[in-house]
Amino acid sequence: MDFNKVLDRKNTNSMKWDFAAERYGSSELWPMWVADMDFQAPQPVLDAMQEVLDHGIFGYHRRPESLKDATTEWIRTRHSWNVSNEQLVFTPGVVPAISHLIQTFTEKGEGVILQTPVYYPFYMLVNNNERTLYKNPLKETDEGFTIDVENLEEQMKAGAKMLLLCSPHNPIGRVWTEEELQQIAALAEKYNVLVVSDEIHADLILSGVHVPFSKAAEGYDVETITCMAPSKTFNLAALQLSYVVFEKKASQKAYEAHLQRNFVGIDNPFATVAAEAAYRHGTEWLEELLVHLRENVDYLKDQLESAIPEAHVIKPEGTYLVWIDLRDLGMDKKELEEWLRQEAGVALSDGHIFGDEGAGFVRINVACPRTHIDEGVRRLKEAYERTIQAAGRKS
Ligand SMILES: Cc1ncc(COP(=O)(O)O)c(C=O)c1O
Repeated sequence: MDFNKVLDRKNTNSMKWDFAAERYGSSELWPMWVADMDFQAPQPVLDAMQEVLDHGIFGYHRRPESLKDATTEWIRTRHSWNVSNEQLVFTPGVVPAISHLIQTFTEKGEGVILQTPVYYPFYMLVNNNERTLYKNPLKETDEGFTIDVENLEEQMKAGAKMLLLCSPHNPIGRVWTEEELQQIAALAEKYNVLVVSDEIHADLILSGVHVPFSKAAEGYDVETITCMAPSKTFNLAALQLSYVVFEKKASQKAYEAHLQRNFVGIDNPFATVAAEAAYRHGTEWLEELLVHLRENVDYLKDQLESAIPEAHVIKPEGTYLVWIDLRDLGMDKKELEEWLRQEAGVALSDGHIFGDEGAGFVRINVACPRTHIDEGVRRLKEAYERTIQAAGRKS
């Protein structure tokens, strides 16, 4: 697989390439937002989908046991975590799954903890479901971002019912260590908090080891519900297939009943065969992808920090999303937004959308060919040089 091959995604109804105007006000901006990849899925996935297309009948479809076999085998080999087929419940996306989990396991007004800055739809999940947001901002240290264990305990003590964990963490790219996860588990046990662990990025590990929260918490009396998917790993997001792993039968039954009440669960044959082919035959593709992503992260860091000395690129341990500290440019969030759009002409994810703590940061997606990074950096560099020159003329 040549991850540097440029494929034209324009005019394909791609959110990243065709809908920047809707979000950023201009279609001329260089797109570096949206967490998907500019790569084709692995060939076995394309072949399996082609077979379904050639058959040409798209009537009601049920997910076969073989998809569950492939999924649990993947989790066992990739994450050394023993999960049985019976523990899986498929859902059309992790975000909708979390919404259903919130509705099933908490009441209106009850507290859900988010560790901020965090993937911004998490806020909508809490707010739209009329739950109360309990915030545990990540702690910024000389070694990077960590979990504020003391404040987490305060939030749990204050009565929060659920912790929505993002592991690995989008947008800051941390792969939480087993020790960090066990600190959370100890508190969740003490305060009887349900942990919903969003592990959609679990396969995208650039350094360190991903430990499923449920596995890290094995020695603790704490219930974990884990959300996973092949969508980030193999670039299948639009196929809308994800799954939830339950530990307790009673909880699983409650969730399944909730889904039935809401008529969630029409299965899609393209998603079924794509996910199964990816899990059965995608390992080699994924290993090559990870090499490419690591190289892109290093390249972006090198290029951007030499173009803009005030930029600090935080190397992600996981995900293909890079968190960049631009606070030293000295702009407030409005000024930075305007500068990125109007001066540099780039569509990046503004840090503040992930929470107030993200102000002054941006998130860049490096799941793209190398030349895509070059163009983004070129635009940022030229804008920076113009800004410096203009400031020099004024002083
Ligand atoms: C942490 C996290 N959860 C969930 C999602 C989206 O999941 P889905 O498309 O399956 O709803 C994303 C996408 O970027 C994500 O980063």
